[in-house]
Amino acid sequence: MARSAVSARTWALILVLLFLLPGALPWGKEGHYAICKIAEGLLSEGAQASVKKLLPSYAGGNLSALCSWADQIRHNFRWRWTGPLHYIDTPDFACNYGYCRDCHDTTAHKDRCVAGAIYNYSAQLSASPGLNSQHGYNLTEALLFLSHFMGDIHQPLHVGFAGDEGGNTIIVRWFRRKTNLHHVWDTMIIESALKKFHGSDLSSMIQAIRTKYLVDPAAAISSWVNCASNETVCPDTHASESVGLACRYAYRNATPGATLGDEYFLSRLPLVEKRLAQAGARLAATLNSIFTAGRPPPPISSPIEPLCREWEQG
Ligand SMILES: *[C@@H]1O[C@H](CO)[C@@H](O)[C@H](O)[C@H]1NC(C)=O
Ligand SMILES: *[C@@H]1O[C@H](CO)[C@@H](O)[C@H](O)[C@H]1NC(C)=O
Ligand SMILES: *[C@@H]1O[C@H](CO)[C@@H](O)[C@H](O)[C@H]1NC(C)=O
Ligand SMILES: *[C@@H]1O[C@H](CO)[C@@H](O)[C@H](O)[C@H]1NC(C)=O
Ligand SMILES: [Zn+2]
Repeated sequence: MARSAVSARTWALILVLLFLLPGALPWGKEGHYAICKIAEGLLSEGAQASVKKLLPSYAGGNLSALCSWADQIRHNFRWRWTGPLHYIDTPDFACNYGYCRDCHDTTAHKDRCVAGAIYNYSAQLSASPGLNSQHGYNLTEALLFLSHFMGDIHQPLHVGFAGDEGGNTIIVRWFRRKTNLHHVWDTMIIESALKKFHGSDLSSMIQAIRTKYLVDPAAAISSWVNCASNETVCPDTHASESVGLACRYAYRNATPGATLGDEYFLSRLPLVEKRLAQAGARLAATLNSIFTAGRPPPPISSPIEPLCREWEQG
């Protein structure tokens, strides 16, 4: 009796939590896997060794195995505070982003957004080149969060409008299936591409992305990793790109009730592939810069609006 009462309460709590959860979900599992797989292929030896040291043993040495960890835990009560770290809400129809204006959660806590999280977790890793965490942060968690959030910030609708929760409240049809625009960009475009062009084989799609965008990884990295001066990370740049792409491609022709079919799918797919490639290459560049032995990583600081980031002083 007591047991079933407790479990009924637990279920009620779970249901309540499900409804309270913020709508924004990230790139689906496939997207995050692809990004981390691409990044793994571009790591320096030093970075590879450090990543392996930090990964829990059940990852089998593969960062890609745990790139959706941040999504799995966010539904757990202890980790609920991490929900706002997966996205940025920007003012409706502005099509631009500013750290001070936009990087906060709905209760105005500063730095609680995906750009703030990238600064935070890359700074934790940079401050511990020997992987001994003097400051008491868990560096395994820092690595997994950083790897996941570098993916999220490249999904255009993770830097979408506040009013529609990054497309979550825009109900559309994806071919015949009812869904929302955010989910189309997290998952459906990738899933449809997998089925239509890759026999549902994710490694074939990853290989195709590599062939298209990363034939010359060094060139791709240097053209994409365009952080100002010597910064290790520049999430503000990626966020600005994303909201621009959201306006030009994601929201366009995707009004509530619209049916999105081949025309939308085939014209947006190249952009989705490019964002996966960019996220992977930039994640690799970041980890290489943090973990390359023998030289201290460049400081994590943004010349833009540095006063908005409280954790920098603490
Ligand atoms: C790690 O990657 C290797 C090689 O791709 C694969 O054989 C293995 O199953 C992966 N392990 C996990 C836990 O994903
Ligand atoms: C930075 O990371 C730590 C460890 O996860 C967390 O406790 C803290 O709230 C984070 N700070 C921000 C501003 O995200
Ligand atoms: C670090 O975090 C991981 C994932 O949450 C956890 O499994 C591990 O036990 C933590 N390590 C320490 C030393 O607390
Ligand atoms: C890059 O960092 C080095 C050493 O910290 C510094 O001397 C140099 O001026 C920096 N370059 C730029 C463009 O900020
Ligand atoms: Zn996410």
